[in-house]
Amino acid sequence: MTSLCGAFASTLLTTTIPHQSRLFSRSKQQPLQRLIRGGAIRANSNLAVTTADDQQLKKGIAEFYDESSGIWENIWGEHMHHGFYDPDAVVQISDHRSAQIRMIDQALAFASVSEEASKKPRSIVDVGCGIGGSARYLSRKYGAECCGITLSPVQAARAQALAAAQGLANKVSFQVADALNQPFPDGKFDLVWSMESGEHMPDKLKFVSELARVAAPGATIIIVTWCHRDLSTTEKSLRPEEKRLLDKICDGFYLPAWCSTADYIKLLESLSLKDIKSADWSDNVAPFWPAVIRSALTWDGLTSLLQSGWKTIRGALVMPLMIEGFQKGVIKFSIITCRKPE
Ligand SMILES: C[S@@+](CC[C@H](N)C(=O)[O-])C[C@H]1O[C@@H](n2cnc3c(N)ncnc32)[C@H](O)[C@@H]1O
Repeated sequence: MTSLCGAFASTLLTTTIPHQSRLFSRSKQQPLQRLIRGGAIRANSNLAVTTADDQQLKKGIAEFYDESSGIWENIWGEHMHHGFYDPDAVVQISDHRSAQIRMIDQALAFASVSEEASKKPRSIVDVGCGIGGSARYLSRKYGAECCGITLSPVQAARAQALAAAQGLANKVSFQVADALNQPFPDGKFDLVWSMESGEHMPDKLKFVSELARVAAPGATIIIVTWCHRDLSTTEKSLRPEEKRLLDKICDGFYLPAWCSTADYIKLLESLSLKDIKSADWSDNVAPFWPAVIRSALTWDGLTSLLQSGWKTIRGALVMPLMIEGFQKGVIKFSIITCRKPE
């Protein structure tokens, strides 16, 4: 089933992409720019992202999530991220939602976020919050205040409505805002959380700089994100076929260029952040995309997809390419954590 979908998606993407305007313009970059804005970004080709492209990308992301969040919630619930599974586990359909919660708990444990009353987070930001699943979970877990930001007005409104319905309206709040220009003062949060939003950010340095800016001294920063594989010392870029695969995924999911985990670590080091740690959880997320594809191929899934709109359908069509990317080792599911110095 997966390979059938993959073949269908590949055929459709190769026939449509040359005719549609790609999301980003291409230009040569200098080496420094490549790390700061390009190489940390578009390792899959010499692409720079212009301001006009940034605006177009943001609009596309907002519309994509405005259009697709309802259907996702109907089928998958309030968390719009991978589940965390034991490698090679046999997973029942009912296990996926608990695997998504487990992803949050594993990330907190990896970053050694304390549950002790005197040390647990009190003020949290959820950067790229979706419909607020993590924000509400974290708020309940720690009794903390949590602010979520997203580019999608539909998501922000739905996140707020769910908070009210769950009795959390006085603890959590959501707004439409850009992660690259956050509407918060310096040093406001003692936990800075980004679950699967980093891959949408066209300027990774600006992204991590904003995470660090809003972090309080001593705060923990957690980034869980899609990366491409680290390059070997002899490689300057990914192989052409790897770049082509990632470019197709970019077009379907409104992503700018990908970077590697090593690129993130360099950026965090350049900001003098401490206790930088990372892990590759690709094996722990393997059951996720096959399950999402199976759910899209049910009667409910297919009818919802057909009613949703072209952006959502195009996103669904690249899902098999995520499986291919993980299997070929070009896509990595990474967690990167650090602490702002006291
Ligand atoms: C895959 S969803 C993840 C949602 C959520 N973190 C979760 O785990 O349920 C990606 C989210 O990133 C947000 N996002 C992407 N680019 C953003 C930006 N520049 N500023 C704020 N949010 C952004 C999208 O609006 C969306 O809510």
